Amino acid sequence: MLQIEDLCVEVAGRPLLKNVSLTVEKGETNVLFGPNGAGKSALLSTIMGFSNYKVTSGKIFFKGKDITDMPINERAKLGMGIMTQRPPNIAGVRLRELTAIVAEGKGLDVRETAAGIDMERFLDRDVNVGFSGGEIKRSELLQLSAQQPDMFLLDEPESGVDPVNMAQVGTMIAKLLDGGSSCPACRREKSALIITHTGEVLDYVEADKAFILCNGTIMCSGNPRKLLNEIKTQGYEECIKCRLNLTKL
Ligand SMILES: Nc1ncnc2c1ncn2[C@@H]1O[C@H](COP(=O)(O)OP(=O)(O)OP(=O)(O)O)[C@@H](O)[C@H]1O
Ligand SMILES: [Mg+2]
Repeated sequence: MLQIEDLCVEVAGRPLLKNVSLTVEKGETNVLFGPNGAGKSALLSTIMGFSNYKVTSGKIFFKGKDITDMPINERAKLGMGIMTQRPPNIAGVRLRELTAIVAEGKGLDVRETAAGIDMERFLDRDVNVGFSGGEIKRSELLQLSAQQPDMFLLDEPESGVDPVNMAQVGTMIAKLLDGGSSCPACRREKSALIITHTGEVLDYVEADKAFILCNGTIMCSGNPRKLLNEIKTQGYEECIKCRLNLTKL
């Protein structure tokens, strides 16, 4: 579904991501861990095509197509959707209007879709204006529900969400990734790359693989729970040391 090859990215004239390679297969949910400032959000923004992230070398393939230079709207049309870490407020645009535009052609009922995530009462408010942290995450999820992308890029979906709402947000993410398939034995339809610090989202979504990104470089990959436990007990310093030892071999 998504293949990143040797990607190097500059932001504000400074190299940020260095030789990042990773793959997310169809139906796979992969996780991205890493310390603050490592470049995780920058990586998701680059995959989505935000213009302030400049690819200096390397390639991004989505559904087999080279999208490295493709504009953001075309990536969205091709089936890529993002929940950013800090979505903008859009004064003058109601959530109902934006959701309807995003859902265009899919035959979705905006009110019904919003009811599914307890967002009906926000539909006539301007997008994200005055929304609480948790409400912004649900607003983002509502837009993703309307878009129904094939590849979900989720940047810290649990951040700012209280434990009760987390159950709703987590269940909603799991449902979106299932893509409507209710058969537990079937492979998931959708793919995802999820950034998480706490791993809370892993209580709701079964992840296949995790990557650790430090200083703009992928240090290692492995079982998400196992890597999270190692990060919690040993910190990222051990991860960097381990990588240094591996490269010396
Ligand atoms: N537009 C920009 N202009 C200048 N610096 C930027 C820009 N975008 C990102 N950076 C810098 O790039 C680095 C990586 O930022 P990024 O947001 O990707 O970190 P992160 O891994 O997502 O961290 P966190 O866990 O805190 O969200 C940071 O030092 C950040 O200040
Ligand atoms: Mg971030």
